[in-house]
Amino acid sequence: MNRFAVIGNPINHSLSPMIHNEFSKEFSIEISYEKILAPIEKFALHAEKFIQNGGSGFNITLPFKIDAYSFSEELTSNAKAAGAVNTIKIENNVIFGENTDGTGLVNDLEKNLNQNLIDKEILIIGAGGATQGILKAILEKKPEKILLANRTSKKSLKLANDFSKFGKVCGFGLDQIKSKPVDIVINATSAWIDGEMPNLPGGLCEGALCYDLMYGIETPFMKWAHHNSAKMVSDGLGMLVEQAALSFNYWLGKKPNTSSIISLIREIVD
Ligand code: ATR
Repeated sequence: MNRFAVIGNPINHSLSPMIHNEFSKEFSIEISYEKILAPIEKFALHAEKFIQNGGSGFNITLPFKIDAYSFSEELTSNAKAAGAVNTIKIENNVIFGENTDGTGLVNDLEKNLNQNLIDKEILIIGAGGATQGILKAILEKKPEKILLANRTSKKSLKLANDFSKFGKVCGFGLDQIKSKPVDIVINATSAWIDGEMPNLPGGLCEGALCYDLMYGIETPFMKWAHHNSAKMVSDGLGMLVEQAALSFNYWLGKKPNTSSIISLIREIVD
């Protein structure tokens, strides 16, 4: 039996067990996939216990992705760039850490939303952990450039500097965003938690794809995009399923078909 799990806090809301169980049906592979609630200071303890009990791999969600990075013995290049791990695999008693968030987003943009990222101008709002997790994968698709805007400009300047080895990216403050339209706007801030959105000029998203990494609610950013003539508005549900599919493939070497699962999960979430 392949034993998997997701570790987080909180964890009750997690859709990962349902998504992975659907993937396993496609290949008639028997798996178990459980939710593990770890107290904030106890990630390593719970991760070790799961491995000792025969776990073959697990996902890591908030707030433990950085703990999982330190816990891993070997890191993939995606995990190193992200500074965070969302997927752990145990192979030959070695703990391997991977991060599938960035490629999950890119797969959603390309496969499900039919966006070609080459030569596109992409504005990312926010310079926290979520942004750090997606920058490498987007830059590897060779956009014309990534504009990285953050409320605290020194954080976007630092991230832009750190990721410039992967492609063209420039960082600045939210107040320096021009009203000129770009091709894609990605909201990677956590402003929705307070029911807010970053202060953005409306002209920016005219004819653009506006993408929020959040899913399960229509965020203030998504409402703003609808009211400001965005060409397309998407939440991050497709990214959730795509990053899970990449984890499944990392563990079991099988690439699940995601589109039917996205529709299924959408019915449950909406
Ligand atoms: P995550 O892991 O979700 O990225 P984080 O690392 O705490 O969380 O980063 C949150 C991001 O949302 C930051 O870029 C933060 O901006 P600051 O760096 O200036 O704090 C951004 N953010 C949160 N609330 C915001 C708001 N009301 N307006 C604009 N940006 C906001």
